Amino acid sequence: MGRFEGKVGVVTGAGKGIGEAYAKGLAAEGAAVVIAEIDVANGERVAKEVEQGGGTALFVQTDVASEESTLGLGEVVAERLGGCDLLVNNAAIYGGMRMDTFLTVSWDYYERFMNVNMNGALLVTRALWQQMAERGGGSIVNQSSSAAWMGGGFYGTAKLALHGITQSLARELGSRNIRVNAIAPGPTDTEATRETVPDVLLKKILQTMPLPRLGTVEDMVAATLFLLSDDASFITGHVLTVDGGQVMRP
Ligand SMILES: NC(=O)c1ccc[n+]([C@@H]2O[C@H](COP(=O)([O-])OP(=O)(O)OC[C@H]3O[C@@H](n4cnc5c(N)ncnc54)[C@H](O)[C@@H]3O)[C@@H](O)[C@H]2O)c1
Repeated sequence: MGRFEGKVGVVTGAGKGIGEAYAKGLAAEGAAVVIAEIDVANGERVAKEVEQGGGTALFVQTDVASEESTLGLGEVVAERLGGCDLLVNNAAIYGGMRMDTFLTVSWDYYERFMNVNMNGALLVTRALWQQMAERGGGSIVNQSSSAAWMGGGFYGTAKLALHGITQSLARELGSRNIRVNAIAPGPTDTEATRETVPDVLLKKILQTMPLPRLGTVEDMVAATLFLLSDDASFITGHVLTVDGGQVMRP
């Protein structure tokens, strides 16, 4: 028996990279998974691959930055799978994101970026928490980044805001038996990292780390599934770094 037998898990941005690994990891441990992804081709591919592996998967095209789209996601999950128990707010603009500064980035890009990377987690949670409460409780993991603590421009700021959202929602939802945590991965080996972070910079970053290697999607799956599971039943409002020691805070 897997840890998530009989559960329904929604993973945003599950069309590739770490999100794809979360969806497949949850399915491998018995959850029916919802691939809430903006990219239709990748979302359908991941759902098909989960089904081919013997799991249950549903692709729902979702823009996490749109209230209408996230409410639609909630309706489909309730109708097709009876409700949601587990949620991973993983979607973000990361692969191919603009390397720009607060002072120079175009306002349109900045607004869209923050709506996806910061508000998206809140919108999806607002669309799903009642279903979790009705099913007796649930667990939510928000995908932050070690960049949150590094003055990492608008990317890092959106992640830092996610910590505030995580802690506040942990307080707001605790009495409904819904736990809310976050993980903060360090540099992780995905296509998006290879596309976005120049090789020279990545090598420099790794040299500063106690464990000088890239994280793997399996590292992230292990940590996130732990926080989603009953093994973490007394943990809420926590941000777990999974970063080879890149960030050590007092
Ligand atoms: N890879 C890393 O080194 C690293 C490190 C720390 C944190 N993270 C975080 O982990 C998460 C996944 O990283 P990744 O490397 O797999 O990135 P990725 O760019 O490969 O994956 C992001 C996924 O989110 C989807 N997405 C983007 N906008 C969306 C929207 N509006 N609605 C729904 N889906 C949307 C994309 O289509 C894509 O499938 C992100 O939140 C990222 O910020 C990544």
